[in-house]
Amino acid sequence: MKAKIDVRSASKTYPAIVGESLLFNTLSSLLKSREADRVFILIDENADQYHRERILTVLSDNKIDYKIRVIPQGETSKSAKEWIACLDFLLDNEVRRNTPLLAVGGGVTGDLAGFAASTALRGIPLIHIPTTLLAMVDSSIGGKTGINHTKGKNLIGAFYQPEAVIADIDFLKTLPRHEWVNGLSEILKYGAIEDTDILEKAEIFFEENPGKISPGELISLIARCVKIKADIVEKDEFEGGIRAYLNFGHTFAHALEKACGFNKMNHGEAVYLGMLAATELSNLTGKTINPAPLIKYRPLYNFRVTKDDLSVSNLMEYMKSDKKRLNENLRFILLDQWQHPVIKTVNNKELIEHSWMAAINELNPIQ
Ligand code: GLY
Repeated sequence: MKAKIDVRSASKTYPAIVGESLLFNTLSSLLKSREADRVFILIDENADQYHRERILTVLSDNKIDYKIRVIPQGETSKSAKEWIACLDFLLDNEVRRNTPLLAVGGGVTGDLAGFAASTALRGIPLIHIPTTLLAMVDSSIGGKTGINHTKGKNLIGAFYQPEAVIADIDFLKTLPRHEWVNGLSEILKYGAIEDTDILEKAEIFFEENPGKISPGELISLIARCVKIKADIVEKDEFEGGIRAYLNFGHTFAHALEKACGFNKMNHGEAVYLGMLAATELSNLTGKTINPAPLIKYRPLYNFRVTKDDLSVSNLMEYMKSDKKRLNENLRFILLDQWQHPVIKTVNNKELIEHSWMAAINELNPIQ
C-alpha cells in the first residue's frame, strides 16, 4: 500500500509519498528522472547507524556518486556552527546548482539540511527522507527550514520546499518508543484541529510494540496527516493566517521545552501538554470542550519531569519573553470546538496560569 499526496506551493508542486518498502524504487526513479550522477547526503547519527546501507544501496545500484555527512543527534545540531559546517561540506565538495541533497533523519536533520539546501548557491534540490514519525507527519512537509539562535528556536531560516518527500515506514521499525510518542502528539494535533477520526485511529499506538502496528493502518494515518498539512500549506504557505493552526499547543510547548531543557522533555511531550493547556484556555474563554479525546492518550506518555520540577510563574515568564521578542501579545491557537481552531489573543494572566495548571497536573504519576 502506498499513498501519494501532492503538496502545492507557490514555488512548486511536489509529491509526498508514504508507504512500505518504497525507498529503493522511489528514490531510484526520482534520481534517474533528474539525471543525477552525484548526490549529497546529510544523515542523522541514528539513521546513519541503522539505515546507511539502505540509502547507499540505492546509489550504488544506480551508479550514483555521493558524499555523506553525519549530523550529531539532538536539537543542538540546529546551530549556526553546524549549518556552516554543512555549507563547508557542500562547497568543499564542489556542489552544483543541480546536485540533489538528501536529508535523511528526523526534524532536526530535516530543518538543518533544508536550510543548508536553501542557502547553498542560493538553492539546490532537496529531497526529504524522513526517518521518524514526527518528521513524516509534520516537519518534512511544507518547507519550513531553519536553525536555532540563543534568543530562541527556529529564529533563523527560510521557507524552502523540497523536490519530494519519501516517507518509508520501514524506517520506523527501529524507532524507540519515545520517538513514536513524539510523533503521536503531532498526529493528535491534526485530530484536534481538523479530523475527529484521527483522534480514534491513533489508538493503534496503544499497541505494546508500535513497530508491529499494521502497515496499512499506519500508512493511512500518516497519509491523512500529510494531506491535512498539504491542504493548509497550499492555502497559506507563508503562515499569514491558517497555517498557524498547525501550532495548536505550541505556544505552551515552546515555554515547556525551554523550562525543562530538550533533554528532559521532547517536542512531542511538550506539544501534548501544550494542547491540554490550550484546550483548557479555550474553555476558560467561554467554550465547552471535553478534553477526554486527548486525555485518553496520557498513559502513552512517560514524562521525565514531575509537577514539582516546574513553576507556573517561570513558565509564564518563558512564554512572555518568547512573545516580547516578537513584539506580540500572547497569541494562542484555541478551539471554538473540536476541529474548529481559532487564533486568539489572551492577555488575562490568571486564565493562562489556570491553563498551565491543567496541563502540568497531568505530570503527576498515573494512579
Ligand atoms: N510545524 C508547523 C508548520 O510547518 O507550519
